[in-house]
Amino acid sequence: MRDYYSPMAEFYELVARRQAAASGPPLAAALSALPAGIGPVVEIGAGTGRLTEVIAAALPTAPIVAAEPSATMRAILTSRVASRPELRGRVTVVDGAVPGLALPPRIGAAVVFGVAGHLPGPDRVTLWRRLRERLAPGGIIVVELMGARTPRVLPPTLTVVDTVGRRRYEWWVEGRPGGSPGLMRFTTTWRVYHGDKLVRTVDDSYDWWTQDAADLAAESGLNCADVSGAAEGTFRVVVLTATTNPPVGAPPRATQGLDPPPPDIRPSRRAGLAS
Ligand SMILES: C[S@@+](CC[C@H](N)C(=O)[O-])C[C@H]1O[C@@H](n2cnc3c(N)ncnc32)[C@H](O)[C@@H]1O
Repeated sequence: MRDYYSPMAEFYELVARRQAAASGPPLAAALSALPAGIGPVVEIGAGTGRLTEVIAAALPTAPIVAAEPSATMRAILTSRVASRPELRGRVTVVDGAVPGLALPPRIGAAVVFGVAGHLPGPDRVTLWRRLRERLAPGGIIVVELMGARTPRVLPPTLTVVDTVGRRRYEWWVEGRPGGSPGLMRFTTTWRVYHGDKLVRTVDDSYDWWTQDAADLAAESGLNCADVSGAAEGTFRVVVLTATTNPPVGAPPRATQGLDPPPPDIRPSRRAGLAS
């Protein structure tokens, strides 16, 4: 697995802040509906740990395994976990990547945010199968899908502008079809300005496998519910549940595939983000 993230890791918190504000509330709402004691949460590709905080706040007693293969991202994750007493006692940070990532024998929930597009189809199928085999009754897999649902040309787009101290950071993203069905190639560039002067440029490219909720349902063999809420945003949050394991409080399901969100895991306006 190529580590796309270390060169950009110094900037990632600026992206994660925005992403957690969009996708954190539906994640928190989905996890909050689980019974206490359902089992550990496995966060795959935990990045710098912004969403680890959301998971910990939504499930205040659950053990959390936060797996992150990029050493630089993991350094930020470990720093965040180690410096917060509410995380330190129950978040275990591991170096691990799909498809070979070691998993606990039983899982209450798995969180896969911003990661599935990095995984080619066979690796995703392996991941869903391994998670499905370990999912506790009523357990869920929560997946965040990025904006690209099919390969297309994305012209250079200013996606994040932020200021830290006297420096202004711009994140430009562009994309194009990657030459294989479902594949996109993204190029991202950070531009750092001091006043009006451009003082640094850092860019990189990576492959991204596009998919939507119906693709996830088909390749996982699980029920799939979009819980993103009414607002169309860059990110979609979907919940996968076993056909034989409806989430607690959800009506029984006769078929597998793409279903409307069960009422108990619709995003709640009251669900907050850990800061
Ligand atoms: C877009 S970031 C998302 C980070 C975090 N989940 C969040 O939402 O803030 C994608 C993360 O997935 C990790 N990643 C990439 N390939 C992976 C793989 N095969 N297995 C596990 N994690 C992977 C990257 O190192 C990176 O930290």
